[in-house]
Amino acid sequence: MSEVLEQEAKASTGHASKYTRNNPYLSTVSVNYLLTGQGSEKETRHVELTLEEGMTYTPGDAVGIIPENRPEAVADVLKALGYRGDERVLDHYKVEISLEEALRTRLGIGKLARGSVGQYAKLVPELDGLKVLVGPENKARAEEYCWGREFVDLATDFPGVITEPQQLFNVLQRLTPRMYSIASSQKQHPDSVHTTVRVIRYDSHGRSRQGVASGHIGDRAGEGMKIPIFLHSNANFRLPEDTTAPVIMIGPGTGIAPFRAFLEERQATGQTGDNWLFFGEQREKMDFLYKDQLLGMVKEGVLKRLDTAFSRDQACKVYVQDRMQENAKELFEWLERGAYFYVCGDATRMAKDVETALLDVIARGSNGTLEHAAEYLAAMKKQKRYQRDVY
Ligand SMILES: Cc1cc2nc3c(=O)[nH]c(=O)nc-3n(C[C@H](O)[C@H](O)[C@H](O)COP(=O)(O)OP(=O)(O)OC[C@H]3O[C@@H](n4cnc5c(N)ncnc54)[C@H](O)[C@@H]3O)c2cc1C
Ligand SMILES: NC(=O)c1ccc[n+]([C@@H]2O[C@H](COP(=O)([O-])OP(=O)(O)OC[C@H]3O[C@@H](n4cnc5c(N)ncnc54)[C@H](OP(=O)(O)O)[C@@H]3O)[C@@H](O)[C@H]2O)c1
Repeated sequence: MSEVLEQEAKASTGHASKYTRNNPYLSTVSVNYLLTGQGSEKETRHVELTLEEGMTYTPGDAVGIIPENRPEAVADVLKALGYRGDERVLDHYKVEISLEEALRTRLGIGKLARGSVGQYAKLVPELDGLKVLVGPENKARAEEYCWGREFVDLATDFPGVITEPQQLFNVLQRLTPRMYSIASSQKQHPDSVHTTVRVIRYDSHGRSRQGVASGHIGDRAGEGMKIPIFLHSNANFRLPEDTTAPVIMIGPGTGIAPFRAFLEERQATGQTGDNWLFFGEQREKMDFLYKDQLLGMVKEGVLKRLDTAFSRDQACKVYVQDRMQENAKELFEWLERGAYFYVCGDATRMAKDVETALLDVIARGSNGTLEHAAEYLAAMKKQKRYQRDVY
């Protein structure tokens, strides 16, 4: 590898690796099982992917997975456009492939983008109904149309003739990799990387849909299958360098993933800092992800505290931030001892609510105002003691 390429690879992974999103490693799925139990509303899977010697990661990093669109979805698009699939097109690197392969491995035919509607309308301008979805003045209407729809809906709702299959490269965005927080420590699993994947499935506008990558992992990436991956460094989500520092982790749902990695790392290296995990999911019976391993860590003393919030096991919702509030005094004592505070999972609501609760815990603990709490949190951020990995 040239020096320049090596530097690029280091920048994207934090380690010298020849594999990047544009040059992924063809990994084998060595383990893929359902973590959630029968009756759960979730389908969350534990997935282990093999690594080649020399591929290294640090807890806090993510793994990029390069998905494929499901064959049925590709067939639906071909049918809607009136193509056979063996038509020849040039991919983004000018390599000639079949249209079927392009739709399966190169182009985003999932979740419809507003830009695609605009580009499609340019190719089939004679279609009246489309006009009201195009242009800045129709942004809101176009977004409403796109919600819960895929490209096949557009091509079916507005059937038009696209004379050249190559033009689809202007209409459809590139199929992008999906990131997953790494759920393992390489100190315990030298040859593999683990992830915790929630499979997205839903019905909308009369069709059954699934997330492109999570659906691929749920339905077609069984044990023994190959899947292209790359490692992605995240220097902003790291265990403290001081191995004796206490750590507080808030990880509901798939947010548990990097904390499994943190705990495995601290366990494997005998770090003596106290660990406190808050985990939340819908129901204890079927959604307590990694239950046996976590309870084992409590028994072993790796986890000093494990607080769970099963939101749907009682009439009123209970969330991780409620557990924080219930334990406000002790939580503040940990912070005063220099604890690092980590949050992973839902960005839209959970992470904001957890921050509000944290500010409240600090204000109450210090007998101070919320302004004082905000300054306290700002100082923690500066010391890298407040880190979030939310999506
Ligand atoms: C740094 C990072 C770490 C991550 N870690 C994890 C992780 O550890 N585990 C994990 O599972 N995910 C994780 N994610 C999310 C993951 O990258 C993917 O975004 C996720 O798996 C969905 O990808 P997909 O291809 O399956 O779905 P896509 O094909 O991308 O579809 C998802 C989209 O479908 C639409 N949608 C979903 N449900 C509905 C509905 N009911 N009605 C209408 N539309 C709907 C939404 O627009 C949604 O954005 C992480 C993301 C980032 C950025
Ligand atoms: N990009 C994607 O499409 C994609 C794919 C997979 C996951 N994700 C995101 O990843 C995150 C994790 O998903 P997940 O299904 O594993 O778990 P999740 O949806 O975050 O649910 C985990 C637990 O958090 C609870 N919760 C809901 N709102 C909360 C809040 N405001 N504060 C605290 N807890 C709250 C849930 O309770 P209730 O459900 O009972 O309210 C549940 O008990 C979510 O953001 C999810 O949308 C996104």
